[in-house]
Amino acid sequence: MRALAQDLLAGGPTAAAVADFDGIPNEALLSLRLACALHRAALDGRAPALRRYFPSTGGAYDPQRDAEGLAEAVREGVIAEAELIGDYLMGPPQTNDVGRCTGLLGGFLAFANEIDAPFDLLEIGCSAGLNLAFDRYHYAIGGLEWGDPASAVRLSPDWRGPPPALEATPRIRRRLGADIAPIDVSAPQTPARLASYVWPDQPDRLNRLLSAIEIARGTPRQIDRDSAEVWLKNQLATAEPGVGRLVFHSAMWLYLPRSVQDAVTAAIVDAGHRATADTPLGWLSLEPGASARAPQACEISLTMWPGGVRRVLGTAHTHGFWVQWNP
Ligand SMILES: C[S@@+](CC[C@H](N)C(=O)[O-])C[C@H]1O[C@@H](n2cnc3c(N)ncnc32)[C@H](O)[C@@H]1O
Repeated sequence: MRALAQDLLAGGPTAAAVADFDGIPNEALLSLRLACALHRAALDGRAPALRRYFPSTGGAYDPQRDAEGLAEAVREGVIAEAELIGDYLMGPPQTNDVGRCTGLLGGFLAFANEIDAPFDLLEIGCSAGLNLAFDRYHYAIGGLEWGDPASAVRLSPDWRGPPPALEATPRIRRRLGADIAPIDVSAPQTPARLASYVWPDQPDRLNRLLSAIEIARGTPRQIDRDSAEVWLKNQLATAEPGVGRLVFHSAMWLYLPRSVQDAVTAAIVDAGHRATADTPLGWLSLEPGASARAPQACEISLTMWPGGVRRVLGTAHTHGFWVQWNP
């Protein structure tokens, strides 16, 4: 990113590549879109100069020795990959990170425990929907374990605070998701596409992502291409007696324009007002910037209806490296 920024300021190829970008660079995470496009080129076997520096493609980078070589490789990559960069600049970043399930788990289980009924999971901004299979992963949390002991996705965050109540066994009836640009887990290019959004020097994160894609390929779910507010309004229009519904989302709220945030909130709160003890509704969220106590971290909150009481459960690192649990 530093090499890209320097080249941009110097009026190099990066300046030309972003000239037509019509978002607000910081808000739209322009630097992430650019860096991930270059990572994708390397993962796909192109950009040979960059591959020498990315650990994800067998390379190595020493900041003392390699800064200039990397800057040159970045410039070459930007020139050679104009089409791919255009594609990445157009779409929202797709960091689908199952690490966020470590912060969400306590909320999923609190909901399951309290309603004591089967329920549907409804994820908005689900990307490839990897977090819809949260119960197929293994968790080691605060000295306790939960989930599938044989799972290839193993999550063991740095857990701060008391462990969450882990005794619930969620009875998930359906796994439903929506995204304006969903990623099809069965498509052959999906592993490289999602992997491109992981930093090249984080092999553990990369491996668990690839394992989660395999698990998603074997987990029945339905994912629709739709904007969150439209989809939720339809999904929440009716409720089935004896079945709960849990709306959840992570790292997507800041991508929504204010009017869409308001429409999503209205759709959930309206459905909440119609919820009964026999048709309970929950809203679980893990979103950055929501907590004054930890502005760089994500706040984890759970609201349940009937009642509509909102509980802040804790905060978490944006990729789930740590969770501070304060139920
Ligand atoms: C950074 S990803 C997070 C993916 C996933 N929630 C996670 O935590 O791993 C943000 C996602 O929000 C989606 N998104 C952005 N605006 C949306 C909208 N209006 N409705 C639904 N999804 C949206 C993007 O397409 C992208 O897949």
